[in-house]
Amino acid sequence: MSADSLGLGAMFLPPDGAEAGWLVCRRLRREDTAALYEAILTSLDHLRPWMPWADSYTREMAEDFVARHTSAPPSEPVTDTHYVAADRTGRLLGLCGLHGRLGAGRLEIGYWVDARHTKRGVATLSAAMLTERALELPGIDAVEIHHDEVNGVSGRVPAKLGFEHVATVKDEPEAPAESGVEWQWRLDKDAWPASPAKQLLDAARAAG
Ligand SMILES: CC(C)(COP(=O)(O)OP(=O)(O)OC[C@H]1O[C@@H](n2cnc3c(N)ncnc32)[C@H](O)[C@@H]1OP(=O)(O)O)[C@@H](O)C(=O)NCCC(=O)NCCS
Repeated sequence: MSADSLGLGAMFLPPDGAEAGWLVCRRLRREDTAALYEAILTSLDHLRPWMPWADSYTREMAEDFVARHTSAPPSEPVTDTHYVAADRTGRLLGLCGLHGRLGAGRLEIGYWVDARHTKRGVATLSAAMLTERALELPGIDAVEIHHDEVNGVSGRVPAKLGFEHVATVKDEPEAPAESGVEWQWRLDKDAWPASPAKQLLDAARAAG
């Protein structure tokens, strides 16, 4: 069911999570609140430059975020859905999400990773899994990743996955380190089968 056929603009049915080798992306749950809050609190210095909400983070903000994003029944269309990136022991490594803010036919992926677990491929593999899931949705023709141009680390993720840099646009800075210039990357559905993103997932799944 596409967003258009629902007549709900940018809403979409939230896909299930996914697994690939050592990493699991599963839907956010109420029980994640404590681990999420702990990960954010520990990572504040790392998150603050890029995530507007990280400026003065509180437990109430974590509780409110989790409550808002876990309240809809799984079969109900949403505008945003969030996934915990976890290792095989269930430890939370980061959070990623699908967002319907680009309008019908396209979803945007967002991510952040706990400062203790960066540079291990968490964001790249998570984004590959969400790309796969998003492109399986009827009516979704492309997935995008947007980041501020000075956040080069974030930009490595779509570049590695084979997304195409399609636009550079002015954007109001929302977080302290942002320059106000946004890079937009896109992977179209027909590019998925031969993409580095699919190859990465295939390799991770083959490795078990
Ligand atoms: C951006 C972010 C999500 C990347 O997460 P990650 O799990 O470390 O990323 P990956 O391990 O998949 O690595 C992606 C690439 O970035 C590189 N990288 C990751 N952290 C880096 C760092 N601190 N310095 C330099 N390069 C880094 C990796 O080496 C890899 O590049 P390579 O393939 O050329 O080696 C993480 O740094 C983060 O949470 N940043 C703060 C929040 C944020 O910026 N979110 C995105 C907003 S658009």
